[in-house]
Amino acid sequence: MNLLKQAITEKGKVLSDEVLKVDAFLNHQLDPELMQQIGKEFADLYKDAGITKILTIESSGIAPAIMAGLELGVPVVFARKRKSLTLVDSLLTANIHSFTKNETNEISVSNDYLQENDTVLIIDDFLANGQAVRGLLNIVEKANATLAGVGIVIEKGFQAGGDLLREQGVRVESLAIIDSMSENKITFREEF
Ligand code: G4P
Ligand code: NA
Ligand code: NA
Repeated sequence: MNLLKQAITEKGKVLSDEVLKVDAFLNHQLDPELMQQIGKEFADLYKDAGITKILTIESSGIAPAIMAGLELGVPVVFARKRKSLTLVDSLLTANIHSFTKNETNEISVSNDYLQENDTVLIIDDFLANGQAVRGLLNIVEKANATLAGVGIVIEKGFQAGGDLLREQGVRVESLAIIDSMSENKITFREEF
């Protein structure tokens, strides 16, 4: 997606060989017009998949997910990383291990909003090692819902998550895939 790649190139900051800071439009300040285009792109990719629900994880997945939900006309559920005071009944949970932070966290979604008759599109802002997506896949399984696929805003193609998921037969659509990056150059994977 050209508009996104342009934003990454112009506004992204490469903090190390592995970490890209995109606080200017995705992780802190949000660019509504870009988010809208991202939503349209996901909706276009998954328009024939019979999606009934979008599943994401707080916080940075919510913006792209809500825009996709608006375009597809379906509700958006976000997994919570902290126990909610009111979220107590029929919880579906999964553990996510973050290699970057070296910690494991339990995420949860209420079964009320994710059910076995749902066809689910998982959306997230970043795909690195894929632990967050795996946690969400686990929750879709526990709900006995159907997975249509995954939509990612920025995939770091030099980390294993995306390719491992694809090898396992999961449909993964990333709007930008970074193959390598350094302080003065970001290289995107070619589209075919
Ligand atoms: P994984 O899920 O793919 O295994 O990723 P990992 O545990 O390494 O990532 C932990 C957090 O860092 C996630 O956000 C993820 O989206 C984000 N992240 C991973 N790589 C990058 C990167 O290069 N740049 C940026 N900006 N973020 C990255 P989170 O902690 O859940 O935070 P948030 O959703 O509240 O923003
Ligand atoms: Na995220
Ligand atoms: Na994030």
